[in-house]
Amino acid sequence: MKITVIGTGYVGLVTGTCLAETGNDVTCVDCDREKIDMLCRGDIPIYEPGLTELVGRNAVAGRLHFTTDLDSAASTAKFIFLAVGTPPAEDGSVDLSALNVVVDQIASHLAEDAVVICKSTVPVGTNAAVAERLKELTGRECDVASNPEFLKEGAAIDDFMKPDRVVIGARRKAVADSLWDLYQPYLRTDKPLLVMSPESAEMTKYVANALLATKISFINETANLCERAGADINDVRRGIGHDSRIGFAFLFPGVGYGGSCFPKDVLGLAAVAREHGVAPLILDAVDEVNNRQKYVLTEKIERHFDNKLSDKTIAVWGLAFKPGMDDVREAPALTLIDRLLDLGAILRVHDPVAIDNVRKEYGDKLIYCTRPDDALKDADALAILTEWKEFIHPDFEAMRRIMRQPVIFDGRNLYDPGQMKDAGFAYYSIGRPAVS
Ligand SMILES: NC(=O)c1ccc[n+]([C@@H]2O[C@H](COP(=O)([O-])OP(=O)(O)OC[C@H]3O[C@@H](n4cnc5c(N)ncnc54)[C@H](O)[C@@H]3O)[C@@H](O)[C@H]2O)c1
Repeated sequence: MKITVIGTGYVGLVTGTCLAETGNDVTCVDCDREKIDMLCRGDIPIYEPGLTELVGRNAVAGRLHFTTDLDSAASTAKFIFLAVGTPPAEDGSVDLSALNVVVDQIASHLAEDAVVICKSTVPVGTNAAVAERLKELTGRECDVASNPEFLKEGAAIDDFMKPDRVVIGARRKAVADSLWDLYQPYLRTDKPLLVMSPESAEMTKYVANALLATKISFINETANLCERAGADINDVRRGIGHDSRIGFAFLFPGVGYGGSCFPKDVLGLAAVAREHGVAPLILDAVDEVNNRQKYVLTEKIERHFDNKLSDKTIAVWGLAFKPGMDDVREAPALTLIDRLLDLGAILRVHDPVAIDNVRKEYGDKLIYCTRPDDALKDADALAILTEWKEFIHPDFEAMRRIMRQPVIFDGRNLYDPGQMKDAGFAYYSIGRPAVS
C-alpha cells in the first residue's frame, strides 16, 4: 500500500516506520529540511529505543523514504496520515495552523480514492472541518478519517506494533474496512479495532489523556495531604491499588506530569468544553494541581536550606519528563532548574540521554555531567526528578563521600525512608515522612 505520512516528529516517524515494517511503501514528509536530511543519512532526530534499527532496515529495503516534497508525496498515496504538531495556543486552545496549512497544500494533489487520516490529536469537530475544507478546495467529497495515536514516548514502537486498541473514526464503512486491513497485522493478538464517528474518535484521545492526568494530579494532591497528616502515601497507594476497581496504574506520586501531550491535552479539552458551554471544573483543577506540584520539591529544598541557596550546589538527576526518552518538553526538572537558578544555586545536572536537549535551552547556566556521580561532586544536596532505572540502586556510601552534605530530595520516591536514615542521609520524598 502506498502511504504518505506528513509530519515526521515522534508520531509521524514511528507511524511511518512501523507501517513500512509490515511491507507498505511509506514516504515521510516534513517541512524541516534539517530533520529530513538527518533521516536520509540514517540519523534519528529523537531518542526512541529500537527506532534507529527499524528505520535503517526499512530504508535499506526501499520501503521507507524521507522528503520535503509534500506535493508529489501527496499525489501518489492511497492513505495520507496527518501527524503534524498541534501545540497549545496562548489561551490554552489548540493551535491547528500546521494542520490547516497541510490540508490546503494537499488538496490539489489528492488521488480520487485517497483517504486523509488525521493522526494528530485534534479537538472534536476538526475532522468535519477538514472534510469541509477539502470539499471546498477540490469540489468533491473526500474521505477523511480520524485515527488518534496512543503511543507512549519511550515505548513507542511496542505501542504501535502491539496496541491495546486502534480507534478509527470514519463516516463510510468502506473507509473503516480499508483501515482495518491496514492495521490487521498489528492486531493479531485479538486487540480490538474500534470503529466510531470521527467526533467520538477525536474525543476519545483527549479523554484518555485527561483521565490519566487526572489520576496523577489526584494522587499528588493526596500525597501532599498524607505528608501533612502523618500518613504515608505509599501505604495508602497499596491500600487502594489492590482494590480491583482502582488498580495501580498512574497512581504514583511525584513532581507532576510533563511532556508534549498531557499538559496541552488537558488544556485543549478544557478549551473545547468552554466552547460548548460546559464548565471544565475537574480539568481546570487537574492543571492547577499539576502546576503547583512542579514546585513541591523546590519548596522542600528552600525550607531545608532556610531559603539560602546562593552558596549551595545542587545535583540534579533526571531531566527528561519521564525515563526512557530525551524529551524535556514541560519537564518538571526544568521548573526546578529555573527556580533554583533564580535563587542563585549552582546546578550540576545529569540525565542518561536528555542532556543535549537541556543544553540547547540553558547553555552555560548549568554544569552538565555525563555520569551521575560527577553531578554529586561538592553537592549540598541531590534532587531526583526522573525515575531512570540506573538511579534505583546507587552506592550510598560512595555518594556520602562525594557529596558535601548527605541530603536527598527524591521527587519520585525511589528509596525507602528507613534505609535512607540508616545510610545517614537527610531524605525528603513525596507524601512520606521526611528523614532529617
Ligand atoms: N509525542 C507523543 O507522545 C504523542 C502521542 C500521541 C499523539 N501525539 C499527537 O501527535 C501529533 C504530533 O505530535 P509529535 O510529538 O509527533 O509532534 P512533533 O512536534 O514531534 O512533530 C511534528 C512534526 O510536524 C512537522 N510539520 C509541521 N508543519 C508541517 C508542514 N506544514 N509540513 C510538513 N511537516 C510539518 C514538524 O516539522 C515536526 O517535525 C500531535 O497532535 C500530538 O498531540 C503525540
